[in-house]
Amino acid sequence: PQYQENCSIERIEQLSKDFYRLTLRCPMIAAHAQPGQFVMVACGLTLDPLLRRPFSIHHCTQDGTLQLLFKVIGRGTQLLSECRTGQSLSLIGPLGHGFRLQPGRPVSLVGGGIGIAPLRFLVHALQQAGGAGADCTVFLGSRSGDELAPLAMEFSALGCQVHTATDDGSLGHHGFITELLAPELSRFSKVYTCGPHPMMATVAALCHSAGVACEVSLEAHMACGLGACLGCTVHGTEGQYLHVCKQGPVLDAQEVAW
Ligand code: FES
Repeated sequence: PQYQENCSIERIEQLSKDFYRLTLRCPMIAAHAQPGQFVMVACGLTLDPLLRRPFSIHHCTQDGTLQLLFKVIGRGTQLLSECRTGQSLSLIGPLGHGFRLQPGRPVSLVGGGIGIAPLRFLVHALQQAGGAGADCTVFLGSRSGDELAPLAMEFSALGCQVHTATDDGSLGHHGFITELLAPELSRFSKVYTCGPHPMMATVAALCHSAGVACEVSLEAHMACGLGACLGCTVHGTEGQYLHVCKQGPVLDAQEVAW
């Protein structure tokens, strides 16, 4: 089921210079959301439908809250960052297909930049399904340590083993996060990834050659989020078009022509 809900903002956190997190009260959407799904959010008070933007669901709780983690990159996200507690936002969701859980086996979650957003909810679901012993190793990459540090600490606090890499070397490995993943890959039964396209392409290729299952959450230009505008297509390996908003955003890495 999908819902349109007016969700009041309960909390706004600025985690670093450009990273923000909103906690919203959305009982209907939160009750039905799966990790990896997304919502379309009307940013700010305007009713301009063009300002509905897709956001992956960062986290949901049983008491009906939903969190969005976003980076200010344009007008819509700027408006969102200027919202105030108590204000309401219109959300449509949950949309798309999420991650397929593989609990109880060692899995790896690889996030780059704002692509880290959906991994929080995924860890929660894996732990719910697999108990406290769910073995999740998280690889987080970003431009610099100031945006990565608060998120890395949260994943550690959840009991995940966390590896970090930054472009400027200010936290963890100085280089690509995939360089840390590669030597450890064989111990995982599955890898989930979300982040910049080149990073996911590398993760997909590494998994393919190691024979490890891999699911990717694709970023695409989503105007409607509902399968109506065809603006979100990517090429599949069999020459077919895949609609990221409908068939994705989570797809098997081997379905995508990288
Ligand atoms: Fe419009 Fe996918 S975003 S069809």
